[in-house]
Amino acid sequence: MISSLSPRYARVLIAGGDGQLSRALAAAAPSGVECVLLPRTELDITSTESIAGALRAHEPQIVFNGAAYNLVDKAQGEGLEANWRLNALGPSLLARACTEQSIPLAHFSTDFVFDGSKREPYVEEDAARPLSFYGSAKLGGENAVLSASRAHFAIRVERLFGPVFSSQPGGKPAGNFPLLMLKLGREREVLRVVNDQVGSPSYTPDLARGVWQLVQNADGGLFQLSNEGEVAFDEYARTILKIGGVTNCRVEGVSSQEYGAPAARPAYSTMSNARAYSCGVAKMRPWPEALEAFVRSLS
Ligand SMILES: NC(=O)c1ccc[n+]([C@@H]2O[C@H](COP(=O)([O-])OP(=O)(O)OC[C@H]3O[C@@H](n4cnc5c(N)ncnc54)[C@H](OP(=O)(O)O)[C@@H]3O)[C@@H](O)[C@H]2O)c1
Repeated sequence: MISSLSPRYARVLIAGGDGQLSRALAAAAPSGVECVLLPRTELDITSTESIAGALRAHEPQIVFNGAAYNLVDKAQGEGLEANWRLNALGPSLLARACTEQSIPLAHFSTDFVFDGSKREPYVEEDAARPLSFYGSAKLGGENAVLSASRAHFAIRVERLFGPVFSSQPGGKPAGNFPLLMLKLGREREVLRVVNDQVGSPSYTPDLARGVWQLVQNADGGLFQLSNEGEVAFDEYARTILKIGGVTNCRVEGVSSQEYGAPAARPAYSTMSNARAYSCGVAKMRPWPEALEAFVRSLS
């Protein structure tokens, strides 16, 4: 249990404080660690002044960057600029400010840096060849972070699910795939879901535990972390509906080409956790077990 370890960092600042991974990181913090979660209104990672003010006000010993632009399809069009600002420029500004003050930064990236041509789990050394503007901007962000200091972390994660939050009055919390499938599955008789994109669904509380173990034990670098196992989206959707007890909806598998999303996505993007495991992260549980825990927690 990480809570029994004496924490390496006593004060942590988390940017993108309303995000689903950010909240899970705060909830999983080892005992004795003070977590400052700052939403976009209090720390804008695209502003050097805002970053400097937050570092000055809170004097963190490590910064987690949970802020990102995750609208993969919109990033191909109307969200093009926001994608570059949030996923490439922001991490680069944060990394520079943290480096100047010798504060390690733990930044999060994505499996979408890969082109999906492999059929066995990607390792950190594999060539990154993004298929979308989102993947390209995230790759730019992780490169900027890693080149700013050897003490910084870039941690690739994928297909997040877990509790979602919003601190904005009347603000809509972001969703995730299981929540969307459960909602649509109760409203519709058929759901069309792509059957040719394989990866590892990952539960934010499990990832958060692993991230804390990583930053407690490792000294920076590029890592990957996800729940164990892999699945195509259509089968993932069927499992969600089954666990959620949604019986009157059928999932129809369709190809990515038929589905026609604006952004291309990797056909295969399972990532190996081996490097994280070799740095003190305990084995992640299989995604179906984690999914079951999440869906049961909703009722
Ligand atoms: N979700 C996934 O399936 C997935 C997959 C692969 C990788 N990842 C990566 O994992 C990390 C965490 O993702 P997540 O799903 O937890 O993200 P999320 O829930 O979408 O949260 C992102 C947060 O960033 C905030 N934000 C937006 N603009 C900002 C700005 N200028 N300055 C500071 N904060 C800003 C958002 O606030 P507002 O809502 O107020 O705009 C939001 O709370 C990200 O790096 C993401 O790219 C996620």
